[in-house]
This record gives sequence, C-alpha cells and structure tokens, in this order.
Amino acid sequence: MTYNLEQQSNQELLALAEIAAPILEIVKVEGLQNLEQEVPWRDLFAEQKQSLDWFDSKGKLLAREGKNFQRSYFPQTIAAAKTREDFPFYKRWGQVRTVTIAVYTDNTEGKTETLEGYIRASESTEEINLIRNKLKLALTLRETIAMLLICTISIGFTQQTIMPVKHGLKKLKQLSSEVSHQLRTPLSRISMATEILLAHGDKIQSSETRKLNIINDAVEQLKRVIEDLLVLIRIDLTADPEELQFSDVSLNLLLQNLQARFVPLARSRNIDCQIQMPHNILIKGNTAELNRLLKNLLENAIDYTKPGGKVLVLTKLERKTVTISVQDTGMGITVEELPFIFQHFWRGELAKSKRTEGSGLGLTIAHTIVQQHGGKIEVDSQPGQGSCFKVHLERC
Ligand SMILES: Nc1ncnc2c1ncn2[C@@H]1O[C@H](COP(=O)(O)OP(=O)(O)OP(=O)(O)O)[C@@H](O)[C@H]1O
Ligand SMILES: [Mg+2]
Repeated sequence: MTYNLEQQSNQELLALAEIAAPILEIVKVEGLQNLEQEVPWRDLFAEQKQSLDWFDSKGKLLAREGKNFQRSYFPQTIAAAKTREDFPFYKRWGQVRTVTIAVYTDNTEGKTETLEGYIRASESTEEINLIRNKLKLALTLRETIAMLLICTISIGFTQQTIMPVKHGLKKLKQLSSEVSHQLRTPLSRISMATEILLAHGDKIQSSETRKLNIINDAVEQLKRVIEDLLVLIRIDLTADPEELQFSDVSLNLLLQNLQARFVPLARSRNIDCQIQMPHNILIKGNTAELNRLLKNLLENAIDYTKPGGKVLVLTKLERKTVTISVQDTGMGITVEELPFIFQHFWRGELAKSKRTEGSGLGLTIAHTIVQQHGGKIEVDSQPGQGSCFKVHLERC
C-alpha cells in the first residue's frame, strides 16, 4: 500500500517536472515574469504543497515557483558530477519529496546533446503521511472488527460443533453400556448350560468334559471383560464433576476391606501380604471407585508375584495429600512395556503366560479413577525384582 502511494506520487512529480522543462530556455533569459500569459503551467501544480525549481547547467538556481519550502529542507544547487543516467533523480529531504530531471537539447540532427539545466519538482509528504495514517487507522479498525467478527463466529461455531460431538459421545457410551448389558444375559445362559452339563459329568465322555471346560473358561473371561467395560463406561459417563457423588471416605475402612479380602488369598498362594493401617485419614471421593482402584492394584501385585514373595501396602501422609503405595517382589515390568500398561486391553507377554484370564483393563480403570479424583498414579518397576505403584490423592 505504501509503495503504491509513493510510486504514484513520484509519477505525478515527474510529470510536473517534465511539463516545466520547455520553459527552462525562457527562464534562463527572462525569468518567470512574462510566462504567465504564454503557458498556463501554474494551473498544472498545487502551489500550496508543490514547488518547481529551474537550474542552469552548472546547477545554480535560476527561479522558483510554488510553495516556499524551508531552505534547510534541500540544497539550493544541483550536485555536480552526476551523469545523464542518474536522472530522473528521486530524493526525500525531511518532509519533502523531490524529483530532478536533466534537460538536454539536440544539436546537429540529434547526434550530440547539450545539457541546458535541471528542473526540480518538490512536494510535501505531509499529505501522503496523512493519507497513510488514515489508511492505517482504517485498516486497524477493519482488522479489529474482522477479528471481533471471527471470534464471535468461532465461539458460536465451536459451541454448535462441540455440543453435538459431546452429545454424540455420551450417546455412544450409553449405547456401549446397553450392548454390554445385553451381552450379559446370553452369556449367563451359556455358562448355566455348561455348568449343568458338567454337573452331570458321569453321563458325558471325558473329551466332551474338556471342551465344556474350555467353553466355560471363555465365557467367564468374556463376562469379566464385559464387567470391566461396564465399569469403565460408567466412570467415563459420570466424568462430569456435577454427576460425581463424592463424600468423605475413610482410608482405614477401604484398607480393612482389602485386608479381609486379599490377605487370605495371598496366604493361599504362599505370598506374604501386609497392609499397614494409618490413623483416621479421610479422602474426598467415591467409596466404590476408590475400593476398585486399590483392589485392581493389589490384585495385580498378588497375581504377578511368585509364591514365597511379598506384597506390602503402605500409606504416607503429606500436609494436603496422602500417598498409598502397593509394592511387590514379583516379576516386574520392563522399561519398554511401561509406557503401555495403562492402555485399554494391554497385557504383558509374561503376564499373559502366567495368568490367561486377564482382560488388560485393570490398570486402565485404576488410572481413570485416579484422574477422576484429581490424583496422580506413578510406577516404579524392575524386571525380576518387583514393582511399586504409588497413588497420590487429596486429603479432606
Ligand atoms: N504388579 C505388577 N507386576 C508386574 N506386572 C504388572 C503389575 N501390574 C500390572 N502389570 C502389567 O501390566 C499389565 C496390565 O495390567 P492390568 O491390570 O491392566 O491387566 P491384567 O492384570 O493383565 O488383566 P486384568 O484386566 O484382569 O487386571 C499386566 O498384564 C502386566 O503385564
Ligand atoms: Mg490386573
């Protein structure tokens, strides 16, 4: 924009200087006094903001017409040692823009040329600056209005776009929940049928019994996956803070439940499981979910530890938080496997061979519950030596 405006102004100045060129001969002899009648050149330039200077061939000022710019703005002579190629010569002196042309006359049928003098057309740049500032202001205003419009439209558009997505996601989760529920009934029927058949083992061949057991195991596994999926969907569906039913949960009660359920199980596998009881600690959260979180971690610790190993649940109090760590001396997790353990359905190779019936959702559920409670979960593990899962939760 700036370039075009200046270029246009330069073109106009050049045209003005060229119009004044034929007068140079007369100016040299008579000055400007008698010119008025012969050429109406005064009409061609804006006397208030432009000026015209005529110089002789040595660069000495002969005459001046139009706005009387301050002398300090530009030199009163044309610099010597300029060649023909240097013209037209554009220059800005402070607030004044000038164009100087050299005037030549042809001699002996155009074969030689004589320098007659110079014409300088000058113009104040104030007007251009004024226009430029007005344009800038207009552009800034336009940009601001455009930005405001874009913001308003974007917010409206985003709201319109996100609302159906949110709604769609909720519907999809509800649908998955319903599908899982629907799958439960036929699965229960299959397991009931196989159990009835197995109960009458004397009437069927041993090869059939084996097949029925395989079917039964598969059905049990499917049921577990469906149960875990339903839990995950339910937790996700109630991710809305308003829907969360949080209360003051006693950590001691949670740990006592765990103790009653898992210490005997560990003992039956010859694993020494100890749960340290803290003093009356309250956590803000959902009792059922916090129970499930600790259950999933302790279940893993017992499942992936060999007989003769140890499992320890410890509690560490901070001013605002409590850290519950579940440690074991089990098979551990490799560095390569660690980034995947919280992913849906992911199971380690060793875990698969040790325990075929897992679904790979236990840690995903644990992670989701911790997140929902605004907490943090971290793992430290050494293959062959054991693992330590730490959960940080906010105290009441
Ligand atoms: N304490 C642990 N020691 C060693 N490996 C573990 C431990 N906890 C988890 N892992 C690894 O992380 C994987 C994922 O654990 P996650 O609890 O999600 O699934 P899972 O135990 O295989 O099956 P399930 O869904 O029935 O719990 C496990 O398969 C195992 O490889
Ligand atoms: Mg597990």
